[in-house]
Amino acid sequence: MPIIQGIAFTEELLIKLIDDVREKKELGPVERNIVRELLVKELQSNKKLVIFLAEHELRTVDRASKYKELLKNVRAKLRKAYGMFQIEGERDKWEALEDLKKAIAKKHNVEVTEGLHRELLKTHLSSKERLGYYDDIYKQIWQVTGKPRIVIDVGCGLNPISFPFMRLNKVDYYASELNTQDVNFLNTYFNIMEEFGLYGKAVQQDLRDIITNPYLFTVFPRADVCFMFKLFDSVKVLGKPKTIDEKLIEKVPAKYVVCSFSTQTIGARSMRVVKRDWVEKLCMRHGWAFKKFEIENEVFYVIDKHGVVI
Ligand SMILES: C[S@@+](CC[C@H](N)C(=O)[O-])C[C@H]1O[C@@H](n2cnc3c(N)ncnc32)[C@H](O)[C@@H]1O
Repeated sequence: MPIIQGIAFTEELLIKLIDDVREKKELGPVERNIVRELLVKELQSNKKLVIFLAEHELRTVDRASKYKELLKNVRAKLRKAYGMFQIEGERDKWEALEDLKKAIAKKHNVEVTEGLHRELLKTHLSSKERLGYYDDIYKQIWQVTGKPRIVIDVGCGLNPISFPFMRLNKVDYYASELNTQDVNFLNTYFNIMEEFGLYGKAVQQDLRDIITNPYLFTVFPRADVCFMFKLFDSVKVLGKPKTIDEKLIEKVPAKYVVCSFSTQTIGARSMRVVKRDWVEKLCMRHGWAFKKFEIENEVFYVIDKHGVVI
């Protein structure tokens, strides 16, 4: 029986809470242990709520406004952490992937599938927002890094599906995501795309583990470039020591790290430009050169970690 704030909480109640949080379609793919961890964290900061829930009858507890409020808070955090990945009103991504597979089987030409790739990228908020800019983004990155042969993309969402816009002939692409459904989806995509020189592998990873597990990144070979697009704000939502973002940049075995940040808060009407000067300070401390560029709503840092032994 879990003890929260010194109060015995039944496993049934925790299971019910986890199920209810995940009831929303877009949160169904979130791993149970992540939801559990977040619920316990929320409860640890509110003893009155723990007492209320622990004393309430299980059968009717979900009618209480305090219970609903807890679900609302946890869901909001999860949506933020997962970058609101599944966008309402967009096509089902598995259907779109099936269409892509058929189009490729017919034409064996990646260029004719750019439209279908766009549809897929639209199903994730982050890639949807940069859809009109992908060509320019990769051009700017390759100008600094040269065309890579090995890429790592962590907390990748659906970004690996922007492969056609990378204009690469052959690349080994190592992707990692917290959410297993995205991992399965990407591995299916990678299988389809192998004939175009995209040799991909996606793995499930909780990047917060870098704090306790120095071997987390040994699943990757030494790469030319690592993408950490719009990652750090999401990782923070689930709770982490302050310096995790710096650790991730330092530890990833890549010559260049490209990280990006939103310059707009999700859902906010007014644009709130956020300053990310910790990245610049980190680069200065390590003696790393960096190039910064911006597109609408997103700022990128291409960091040169050359010569740094990991
Ligand atoms: C805002 S999205 C960005 C996705 C992608 N990098 C892009 O820009 O298109 C943040 C991503 O980070 C992932 N994420 C959040 N916390 C994570 C963690 N602890 N470990 C691994 N991935 C995480 C989420 O699942 C989500 O896909």
